[in-house]
Amino acid sequence: MLEICQVTKYFQHQVLAPVDLQVEQGEFIAFLGPSGCGKSTLLNIIAGLEQPTSGEVRLDGQVLTAPGPERGMVFQEPGLFPWLNVLENVAFPLRRQGLTEAVARERALELLKLVHLSRYAHSWPHELSGGMKQRVAIARALALNPRILLMDEPFAALDEQTRMAMHVELQDIWQQTGKTIIFVTHNIREAVRLADRILVFATRPGRIKAEFKVQAPHPRLEGDGLLLQLENQILRELREEMEKVLKEELGDDYHLKKSGFPWHPDRDLGSYI
Ligand SMILES: Nc1ncnc2c1ncn2[C@@H]1O[C@H](COP(=O)(O)OP(=O)(O)O)[C@@H](O)[C@H]1O
Ligand SMILES: [Mg+2]
Repeated sequence: MLEICQVTKYFQHQVLAPVDLQVEQGEFIAFLGPSGCGKSTLLNIIAGLEQPTSGEVRLDGQVLTAPGPERGMVFQEPGLFPWLNVLENVAFPLRRQGLTEAVARERALELLKLVHLSRYAHSWPHELSGGMKQRVAIARALALNPRILLMDEPFAALDEQTRMAMHVELQDIWQQTGKTIIFVTHNIREAVRLADRILVFATRPGRIKAEFKVQAPHPRLEGDGLLLQLENQILRELREEMEKVLKEELGDDYHLKKSGFPWHPDRDLGSYI
């Protein structure tokens, strides 16, 4: 359905080496890699917010060059309009498309039900917790019934408990709607919990280094043995990339080999990349 063909991007430096990727309808894909490896850049190119330097992105064979209603986007910051209540925030894209207020409200209410926020339809954004705001942002991104949901570290700013609750919620939304989801994260555990296919990025320049399939059925439970095994496998793949990033950030003071691998089994693996 979605094809990324030989996409590169240069800013001052080459940020993306040629990237090729094919995404099937209904897939849940994660882009995983250390910060600065070009995950957001690639997602923004798919969204039509950035143009590739070369190569192209096609949806059903049509080249994409601008944002469109078939792609919904959720960012790390919920970005709700503070002067609109929850229902009006979700209805906003529908109203802008020219739907009548009654139709827009009805559709917005359906979406609020999907994200379990019906009771908060008339609340204001500042009255909601971080997780609730992000659920409103997801409902708003789904308003125009996009085929693809693009999510850029949407839960990175949430506390651990809320993030785990959002993982349950998002799996549920994905199963109910059958949307294609591309989810950017630097957290291995999150990628393994959610995605069916994980693309591990290498850095400088950003490119896809490895692909992992996660066969476990949804909904997946936190701490599942099979998932933990996969986390470790992916961590080994990322070790080299992490070393590169840490060396650059910490300079010559940093000797990963001497200090050993900076990983403890009780800690969240994701927080190291
Ligand atoms: N608009 C921009 N102008 C210049 N450099 C950019 C811009 N956007 C991203 N970059 C650079 O591209 C690289 C990849 O960034 P990004 O895609 O945000 O990485 P990630 O999302 O994996 O952390 C970084 O080095 C970043 O500084
Ligand atoms: Mg990013």
